[in-house]
Amino acid sequence: MEIKEIVKDVYAVGSKDPHRPLFDQLMPLSEGTSYNSYLIKGNDKIALIDTVYPPFEEEIENKLKNMGIERIDYIIANHGEQDHSGALPKLLEKYPMAKIVTNTKCKEITMGFLPLSDDQYVVIDDRSELDLGGKTLQFIFAPWVHWPDTMFTFLKEDGILFSTDFFGAHATNFDLFWENDPSIIPLAKGYYAEIMMPFARIFQKYLPMVEALNPTMIASSHGPIYRQPKFIIDLYKEWSGSHKKNQVVIVAVSMYGSTTQMVDYLKEQLEKQGVTVKLYDAVHLNMNALACDLVDSAGLIVATPTVLTGPHPAVVEPIFLANVLKPTLKYVGLIGSYSWGTMVAQKVKEMLGNLKDTTILEPVLSKGTPKEQDFEALNKLVEQIEQIHKEL
Ligand code: FEO
Repeated sequence: MEIKEIVKDVYAVGSKDPHRPLFDQLMPLSEGTSYNSYLIKGNDKIALIDTVYPPFEEEIENKLKNMGIERIDYIIANHGEQDHSGALPKLLEKYPMAKIVTNTKCKEITMGFLPLSDDQYVVIDDRSELDLGGKTLQFIFAPWVHWPDTMFTFLKEDGILFSTDFFGAHATNFDLFWENDPSIIPLAKGYYAEIMMPFARIFQKYLPMVEALNPTMIASSHGPIYRQPKFIIDLYKEWSGSHKKNQVVIVAVSMYGSTTQMVDYLKEQLEKQGVTVKLYDAVHLNMNALACDLVDSAGLIVATPTVLTGPHPAVVEPIFLANVLKPTLKYVGLIGSYSWGTMVAQKVKEMLGNLKDTTILEPVLSKGTPKEQDFEALNKLVEQIEQIHKEL
C-alpha cells in the first residue's frame, strides 16, 4: 500500500496483505486483509496510530523513512492484538524516543507478548486528550470491541475516528476511501460475523456513542476509510439489531442417508411456507459463509446422526462456532437419526450454552430410517418454526 494523504498532515502508512489465505488460521480471506496505520503530524509532535503485522514492519519503516520522518513522539496503541501492535518493538528501535500511548489493559496485553518495558509507555484515561499542536487526539475507551483493551482515537480538528477493529473489513481491493458502494458489504459483514458478533449486544451503547461524535470519516484498522460514516454505522445497526430475516440455517451431515431424508423433507416443507433455507454441508463447510448467515437468520437447525451417543464430529465445529459467535438467533433445533441409543440432544444443548436468549426446540430424532411418526414430528417442527417466523 502506498503512502496516502487522508487530510492535511494525516497519512495512511499501513500495509496490504492480499495473499493471506486465512485469518487466525480459521477464517478464509477472499482478498487478504490490510493492517492500517496512520501518521499524524502536529505542529509540535508526531504520532503514529497503530502499527502493522510484523511481516510488514520493514515496509512501514521504509515508508516513514521515505516521508523523511526522523522523529516519532507517540505511538498510539488502540488495541494490543499483534496484527496492529506486532511492529512496536521494531519501530521503537528505530524511534527510541517514542512513547506508546495506551490504556492499562492494552499495556498489560502488549507487554505479555512483546519485548517492551514499563518506561516505554504513557498510560492514558478514558476521554483524555493529547495535543500534537493543531491536532488533538481524544482517547475513547471501548472495551470488548472486541478485546478488553480496545479503544478509539478521535482526531478532533479533522473529525476522523480511528476505530481500531470496529467497522473493519478484510479487504484489499480499495484505494483509500470507500463511498457508499455496496460491494464492500459481504467483506464487512464477514468481518463483523467473525470478529464482532459475539459483542453485538454492547454495540447498542457504542453505535450511539460513535454517532454522537459526528465523525467526518471512520478509519478502522482493516479495510478502507469510510468518508460517509453513516453507510457502515447503519450496517452495524442492522447486523447487531434484533431484526431477523425469514431465513433458517441448516447445518447437516449424514452417514447412511437417514438424516439426509429428514433434512430434505424439512427443507421442502419450510420452503413451501416461504422460509428461505440456507443448507450447509458440515463436512465441506465454508465457515465465513456460515457465520455471515448466522448474523441475520432467525434460526439454526443442526442435523446429525448420533455417533457414539453424541453428534457427528463434522457438526461439532459449526456448533462450537455458533456458541462462541453468539448470534442473536430466535431458536435452535436438532434433527437426525440414531441406531441403538442417543444422548445427542443433551450434548448439543450443553454445547450451545452461550445462547441463553435462544429457544431450544423439541428435537426430532428418528430410530433408524425416518418413518411416518418422524415425518409427523418434522411437520410439527415446521409449524413451530412458522409460528416464530410470523412474529419476526
Ligand atoms: Fe485486527 Fe483484533 O485485531
